[in-house]
Amino acid sequence: MEKYLIELNDVWKIYTVGKVKVEALRGLNVTIRRGEFVAVMGPSGSGKSTCVHLIGCLDKPTKGHIYLDEKDINKFTRSQLSSIRGKKIGFVFQQFNIINSLTILNNVMLPMMFYNVSLSERKKRAKRILGEMDLSHRLNHYPTEISGGEKQRVAIARALANNPDIIVADEPTGNLDSKRGKEIMEILENLHKNGKTIVLVTHDKVLANYAERTIYIKDGTNADSM
Ligand SMILES: Nc1ncnc2c1ncn2[C@@H]1O[C@H](COP(=O)(O)OP(=O)(O)OP(=O)(O)O)[C@@H](O)[C@H]1O
Ligand SMILES: [Mg+2]
Repeated sequence: MEKYLIELNDVWKIYTVGKVKVEALRGLNVTIRRGEFVAVMGPSGSGKSTCVHLIGCLDKPTKGHIYLDEKDINKFTRSQLSSIRGKKIGFVFQQFNIINSLTILNNVMLPMMFYNVSLSERKKRAKRILGEMDLSHRLNHYPTEISGGEKQRVAIARALANNPDIIVADEPTGNLDSKRGKEIMEILENLHKNGKTIVLVTHDKVLANYAERTIYIKDGTNADSM
């Protein structure tokens, strides 16, 4: 049997809002191999973010199974799940989600705090990754003092802090102009070449072309195309 890094098997996610149940995912099946670069496309509200949140261990499915490295995430406690998330998965979001009260350097050092990395090692690693993101001249700046493209590069640096296997990027270029967006896509492409597994949510066919393969979702389940 083939081994997958990520496997979603008949996954359902039902949100309860007051008395209303929202079926965000309805029997979704996904398999992703280690080192793949996959795009996730589908109409607004189809369940893309829900899907990648589950892949990223931000939540558990209501029904069905998700296997990471062949381990069923349903079997993990919340705290085990957050530890796995911190080590194995790096998130990049459309709204950057970096912390405005911390310098760029401290933003990138922060995720390492939870994994017994010494202060000097945290600093060294954060500087190296920020250097790779072409941000060495911005270490002591605050997020409000840098551009959107730079913010997203900080977010990617932060996502890489614990050297995760998987990068989950949910519309990472959604708030950027096309030139800055292209820079971000080239960074993701390079991470893929260096062996990272990338799961990219996008609305944009051109961006999906950076991926090796596209998974389509419609009404919370698999579709053949948009
Ligand atoms: N926390 C939540 N509570 C209740 N309903 C939710 C929640 N998150 C998402 N939903 C609903 O689940 C469905 C899927 O949402 P999701 O955010 O996964 O879609 P999406 O494909 O990412 O859409 P978009 O392209 O607009 O980002 C939508 O109907 C949405 O309203
Ligand atoms: Mg979304």
